Amino acid sequence: MTENKKIIVAIDGYSSSGKSTMAKKLAKDLGYRYIDSGAMYRAVTLYAMENGMIAPDGTVDAEALGAVVGNIRIDFAVTPEGQHTLLDGRDVEHLIRSLEVSNHVSPVAAIHTVRQALTAQQQRFGAEKGIVMDGRDIGTTVFPNAEMKVFVTASAEKRAHRRYLELQQNGTPSPYEDVLKNVIERDRIDETRAESPLRKAPDAVELDNSDMSLPEQEKWLMELFNKTEAAINGRDC
Ligand code: CDP
Repeated sequence: MTENKKIIVAIDGYSSSGKSTMAKKLAKDLGYRYIDSGAMYRAVTLYAMENGMIAPDGTVDAEALGAVVGNIRIDFAVTPEGQHTLLDGRDVEHLIRSLEVSNHVSPVAAIHTVRQALTAQQQRFGAEKGIVMDGRDIGTTVFPNAEMKVFVTASAEKRAHRRYLELQQNGTPSPYEDVLKNVIERDRIDETRAESPLRKAPDAVELDNSDMSLPEQEKWLMELFNKTEAAINGRDC
């Protein structure tokens, strides 16, 4: 029996739609590598915050950041608690999930030089396939030829509620109203930016998981993977 070809799975969608949870689980079940592209934008945002490149009114010094972004090193380390994001070798997994970083990340992610640098790095991660990557532009810009594309949506209230619980669990609680405001504002900036705006790729399969449990969502994704893989390998599913 010939081995199945490894593919690229692109999972895009709105903020806090549960993309990362489903992407991580699928990668684990398949023995694929998981890359959280949002964590990369969050790490660059933290770098900008820590290096005085974000003014108190939220304005980002795009020129200063653009001059150094190519030298910022972002890696992922697999630890017993899961995958951790490293910024220049430092574990920043916890810090990048704060509401403060969430409040600055979308303007940072709209900067051309930042997108250019991170897109190139993401494409290198996927060079050998066997990867599940989640984000906003994976199926449209980073891997337009990905064999499997999913676009995840859910109501803003549901998504804000999930993020609110996650922040509580992380020990960085924030009021629900603030979280909802952030979710709505990030969606607006991500959808309206000039470069690689958040869009469903024409060949992506849409999933509204507003009323789905985690096991239901996992099952849905695995079925789609099996169907996709069978088609690629010329088998019936
Ligand atoms: O976890 P959540 O869904 O809230 O967001 P994330 O995936 O961690 O992404 C954080 C932010 O990074 C997004 O709101 C986008 O502004 C930006 N991003 C992007 O522009 N392109 C990507 N491929 C991934 C994230």
